[in-house]
Amino acid sequence: MKDDEIEQYLEAGRIAERILHAGAGMVTPGGSVLEVVEAVETMVTDTGADLAFPLNLSFNEDAAHDTASTADDRLFSAGDLIKLDLGVALDGRIADTALSVDLGGHETLVAASAAALARAISCVRPGVTAGEIGAAIQTEIEGRGFLPVANLTGHGLAPYQIHTAPTIPNVGIAGGAVLEEGMVVAIEPFATTGSGRVSDRARTEIYQQIAVKPVRLPSAKRILGGIRDRRGMPFSRRWLPQEKIEIALSMLVKSGALYGYPVLHDVAGSFVSQAEHTMIVTADGCIVTTGQG
Ligand code: CO
Repeated sequence: MKDDEIEQYLEAGRIAERILHAGAGMVTPGGSVLEVVEAVETMVTDTGADLAFPLNLSFNEDAAHDTASTADDRLFSAGDLIKLDLGVALDGRIADTALSVDLGGHETLVAASAAALARAISCVRPGVTAGEIGAAIQTEIEGRGFLPVANLTGHGLAPYQIHTAPTIPNVGIAGGAVLEEGMVVAIEPFATTGSGRVSDRARTEIYQQIAVKPVRLPSAKRILGGIRDRRGMPFSRRWLPQEKIEIALSMLVKSGALYGYPVLHDVAGSFVSQAEHTMIVTADGCIVTTGQG
């Protein structure tokens, strides 16, 4: 990787780290989901950087892929466990970072995903396998009395692409991809009091264009026009013109132009915590771009 590209990854990481923590400070009982999401997203775009994806804000047993809807009236309550997952892109170079905000009673669960992330990062160097990293995450989380979420994974990052090889599991697997110097990877352990697997809700707020397809429906054309500058990065339903949006989105998903990311949840009444950093693999370890502060 060239020096100026490394500097873009580092700068995206500094922006993401600073704004993620600012956003976490805004999550308080009685506060508004929509206000926090819009404030965080505006802080990012005010820097001149792009959102690599809409701010994910997920409650309690929901692990990921929720965000505010246009007229979202949800408020935070004491006892909630809120995950914030932020992606910042500079010229497509992405920093992907997440943390959990404990509004009461989830200290050990939040510590489990954070400790698993720290332990995973300490394993990162050229030659280590994704399976070894997953085993370190699983051991740390299970040792603290929780389960890792087995069907959510860390991932590689490439310009404008939020999920590329290598896949980095949150459980021990045989082998897996071998890390190489110069790879950019995001590691994101999830710890849960629930089943250790997530499934889809009916609710979908985040979409991504995955193919170019001919469309005639004017409302669908409007959507595709409005997201052209995303260059394939995910977007929120909330960012779109709202007129006739339901039929347009479902038509675009059905035609294969868009992919929808349903909200992912563990079992009712459980709690899921998450921690995530992005790093560049170096000759003798890694540089954590979202942990420079
Ligand atoms: Co990620």
